[in-house]
Amino acid sequence: MTPPSPHIYCISSGKGGVGKTTCAVNIGTALAQRGLKTLIIDGDLGLGNVDVALGLQVSHTIRETVELGLDIDDVLLPVMDNLTVLPASSGVPEMAGISQEEQLFLTSTLEEIIHRFDIVLIDSAAGIGDSVLWFSEWATNNIIVITPDPTSLTDGYALMKILSSRYGKKKFQLIVNNVKSQKEGIDTKKAIGKVLEQFLDLTPELLGILPKDAQVVKAIRKQTPFLLNSPDCRAAKGIRRIADRLTP
Ligand SMILES: Nc1ncnc2c1ncn2[C@@H]1O[C@H](COP(=O)(O)OP(=O)(O)O)[C@@H](O)[C@H]1O
Ligand SMILES: [Mg+2]
Repeated sequence: MTPPSPHIYCISSGKGGVGKTTCAVNIGTALAQRGLKTLIIDGDLGLGNVDVALGLQVSHTIRETVELGLDIDDVLLPVMDNLTVLPASSGVPEMAGISQEEQLFLTSTLEEIIHRFDIVLIDSAAGIGDSVLWFSEWATNNIIVITPDPTSLTDGYALMKILSSRYGKKKFQLIVNNVKSQKEGIDTKKAIGKVLEQFLDLTPELLGILPKDAQVVKAIRKQTPFLLNSPDCRAAKGIRRIADRLTP
């Protein structure tokens, strides 16, 4: 697979429910506000919910392009200035079983459209299934979302271990989400950084720390990014700092 030219960030975590979708839609919104043409690909091909997080009405999904040959332009959904979403289906079996041929078709279709964008964010599925590994490999950059929860750390570690050993990925950018304090975020990064260094010879970069914030939950209920719903909340400030670091 030839790495395409825009920056492609795959946001994954191993464990589910740690904030991947929340990060994808809010970072995407922040980048779009900066004038960067941003595409969010819903990489959770079986239980996609980027559309739900953004309150979108979806007519077509990525699956229809792969399986029925629907024009990708009919699937791409403009959300706001500079922000487009490629929606996935929800409640259908994971597309892990797609043939080699369909996989090649998906790659070539995506590689045709991503050149229209400055930044591509992939909101990947939980776990370490085929689609997670496939999107992670295809991306040029790998963002791993973790929380201080020990199960999140072990799952995040397991994912980075596979990506480094099987796909030669060595550069990981960590977002520590749902922390009680900045210190808890730094300690969490240090803890996972230590084992990554010791056992895998990896030195992850800290991309950002996001506080546990009631405004995040409130915005999700309203199906709006908290960046728009409560732009001054602490989580929104954290997202803007991350967007600063991702701005090319
Ligand atoms: N920083 C945060 N503060 C408070 N709640 C959060 C935060 N990040 C995530 N959550 C909660 O966690 C839930 C799962 O987040 P989500 O982004 O859907 O995770 P994932 O995509 O990794 O499965 C959200 O619905 C929200 O209630
Ligand atoms: Mg999600």
